[in-house]
Amino acid sequence: MAQDKKIPNVRTGTNLVKIVVVGVGSVGSATAYTLLLSGVVSEIVLIDINKEKAEGESMDLNHAAPSTTRSRAGDYSDCAGAEIVIVTCGINQKHGQTRMDLAAKNAKIMQDIIPNVAKYAPDTILLIATNPVDVLTYVSYRASGFPLNRVIGSGTVLDTARFKYILGEHFDIASESIDACVVGEHGDSGVPVWSLTSIDGLKLRDYCEKKNHNFDQDTFHKIFEQTRDAAYDIIKRKGYTSYGIAAGLLRIVKAILDDTNSTLTVSTVGDYYGVKQIALSVPIKLNKTGAHQADELSLDEKETVLMKKSAGQIKSALRTLDL
Ligand code: LAC
Repeated sequence: MAQDKKIPNVRTGTNLVKIVVVGVGSVGSATAYTLLLSGVVSEIVLIDINKEKAEGESMDLNHAAPSTTRSRAGDYSDCAGAEIVIVTCGINQKHGQTRMDLAAKNAKIMQDIIPNVAKYAPDTILLIATNPVDVLTYVSYRASGFPLNRVIGSGTVLDTARFKYILGEHFDIASESIDACVVGEHGDSGVPVWSLTSIDGLKLRDYCEKKNHNFDQDTFHKIFEQTRDAAYDIIKRKGYTSYGIAAGLLRIVKAILDDTNSTLTVSTVGDYYGVKQIALSVPIKLNKTGAHQADELSLDEKETVLMKKSAGQIKSALRTLDL
């Protein structure tokens, strides 16, 4: 018997689920819209330095909302009782910039706002999406004083989704049939875990052999470059990214609210590959209490070297911030 799913309903006041989105720029507004249509929340509170923008977004969202969900603009005191507070505010990447270029300015913004969130919602789960997300997940952990399991970064959930999409296009197969992931930094040093990639339950090499596909390194390097550079390619054309990250944040939110114990490559704080006290992405189990270490990834030698490099990149960015 499927567990009867408690549907949040703001109209009847049953199973109320409140999520706060801090920052209603391109990512925050796309995330709010995605949450609204998903039916997993009953109340979406939008907080932004531009209160009128937050009010306008909420008004617009309510014209798309099912009767069970409502959105409104608020301030930090409205974080009280929120299951999850999603943080998307900050300056975003412009054409020609890397995510790490945003570190100093966005770290300052996190250090300003996170204590306000923690003050009014001491038991919430922080979900950080602002870039560079690994650096800012660590900054938010320090600024909130929350336990490790309740500070989560969107990490490489989006990179993993892009990787599976591009592999699916290459092999003409649904991305749901592909088991693959990107770990490490959500950025230029992210690591594709080719050694653990499988399609239809077959290791990649075996799948290529069975389907007479070329298993050549050039092709796979091109696939990973497309994954790694996707944000640059999109930002060059539309000025920002929004839908992919919004869908990734919804996957994380659903795993937490539905208490599923799903494993996603989110960013969490820890000691990784010999580097102490950073945040980066590895497969993490998510449930209603937040993030929990999944089984250790068995990377091959090359992937381990790349992972150590990625961890080192994040550590040097934190050192620049005196963290
Ligand atoms: C991207 C942003 C969210 O990769 O970093 O689209």
